[in-house]
Order: sequence, then structure tokens, then C-alpha cells
Amino acid sequence: MERLHEKPRCHIVLIGLMGCGKSTVGKALGKLTGLPLLDTDAVIEEQVGMSIPEIFRKYGEKRFRSLETALLRYLLEHQAPESCIIATGGGIVVRPANRPLLRRLGFTVWLHAEVPVLLQRTAHTANRPLLQDTDRERRINELSSQRAPFYAETAHWTLEVGHSEVFEIAQRILERAADFSDHGKNAFCGGV
Ligand code: S3P
Repeated sequence: MERLHEKPRCHIVLIGLMGCGKSTVGKALGKLTGLPLLDTDAVIEEQVGMSIPEIFRKYGEKRFRSLETALLRYLLEHQAPESCIIATGGGIVVRPANRPLLRRLGFTVWLHAEVPVLLQRTAHTANRPLLQDTDRERRINELSSQRAPFYAETAHWTLEVGHSEVFEIAQRILERAADFSDHGKNAFCGGV
């Protein structure tokens, strides 16, 4: 990981559907590397002073997506002095403008999980407006097929997470990130 520390703005960016483990894997990556973890949902909640469900209720999804875009632009323009781990909200890839921004931020990893895994992991969710008052299985199936091409377009690398242990997943990402930063040429650190 030292190589990542040495390079400016070599963030590791985690993308994927709700329940794929972005936050838990992000925390494990933070522990293993000592790098700070930035959770885009948490930053937006703090900026607005409301929870995600409240933001959706009061302003709607479209406004929330604009806040995500603004945050990505801010992160690109105001480079953090050191690399960090960025865990994103599951729908951040929906806006076409966000996809190249995410790739430019750093090494972007799609944590891919099958629908049954996602269903199990979102079973007790109360803070995800897109899964409230709906047939969760149908909704996750829909989101999975709608968004798969967007994740694929955005990710530098896809990792099948299944039921793997969280530190094992984090370790695999770090190995790949180090390779990527050595051999990725323009694909890393501000490239696409
Ligand atoms: C969303 C995912 C959520 C959050 C919001 C919308 C989505 O983040 O950003 O509820 O559109 O998939 P998580 O993926 O961290 O649950």
C-alpha cells in the first residue's frame, strides 16, 4: 500500500448495489491501510443536515443525485492531500456524468453480489428509501439489471464478493490497486 500513499489522489472508490458491502469493505480497507474513509452518503447527510430518507422525502431523488454529482466534482477539484477510501451510494452511477468522474477519482471497484446475497443483506434496512414500501426482491432485481451496465462502464475492476470474508475482500482490492497504480498508466490518478 505504500505505493498508493506516495501518489497524489489515488483513491480507492467502491461502487455497487445496496447491500454489496461498500461501507464494511471500506472500513476494512481503512483499517488495513490507515487511509481515511469517505462515505458519500454520510457527507451528503452532513452537508444537508438531514438523513438520506429525509432528503428523498423533502427534495426527491433527482435533487439527491445532483448532490452526489456536486460532491464528486468537489472531490476532483479540491484534491485531498492524501489518498482515501471512498464508499459511494449504490445509485451514484445512474447519472451519466458521474461515471467518468468516478473513474477519474481513482481505482474504481465494483463489488458485485448476486441478488439473493443483496436481499439477505438488506433484509432489515430502514434507511434506504428505494427499498421501503415495495416488493424488495422485485426492486433489487430491477435495479440490478438496470444498473449492471453502468457499474461495468464505471469500474476499473469487478470483484465478485458473494459471502467472502470482508478482510479477504479488502486484501484482494489492495493487491489489485497496487498493480493498477504501477501499470495503469493513464487509467489511474486523474486519467480515465
Ligand atoms: C441508493 C443507495 C443508498 C443511498 C440512497 C440511494 C441507491 O446507498 O445512496 O438510499 O440508489 O441505490 P447504499 O448503497 O450505501 O445503501
